[in-house]
Amino acid sequence: MSKDERNALLLEMRTWLQNSQGILAAVSINDFATATKIAKSSGMTAEADVPGTLFRKIPLEMKKLGFDTRQKFDEIAIDAERLKDSQHTIKQLSTAMNNCIACHATYRFADTEK
Ligand code: HEC
Repeated sequence: MSKDERNALLLEMRTWLQNSQGILAAVSINDFATATKIAKSSGMTAEADVPGTLFRKIPLEMKKLGFDTRQKFDEIAIDAERLKDSQHTIKQLSTAMNNCIACHATYRFADTEK
């Protein structure tokens, strides 16, 4: 993986972390419009920003986990807008974040100690 590709992946990761916090902060004050906007920006539409060369180097199982995470953020966005139920959003985000843990437990850049 090139340095640029690696940086693109890490940038996306930091965005995910930031957005997860942003969603929690928003629903904690019942700001569902902001929660929806943030969740959407981590969803499938953000996939367009992933460099194609990076995408081809990612193992299939990892791609699946990545897509599933995006879909979970899209569901969070849809439900936050529709239901405006902070408990529900928190539960969904908690489930989505199991994907973060699962992927981090399995995948590392080759030159990082496991
Ligand atoms: C499909 C796999 C995958 C998923 C899902 C995933 N990550 Fe990551 N993440 C990685 C990999 C690979 C690294 C790099 C690990 C390494 O250093 O080798 C990483 C690194 C990170 C980093 C460090 C960024 C840096 O600049 O060093 C953060 C923060 C992070 N992930 C947050 C998250 C959060 C939050 C989620 C869930 C919303 C998430 N990740 C979901 C694969 C994933």
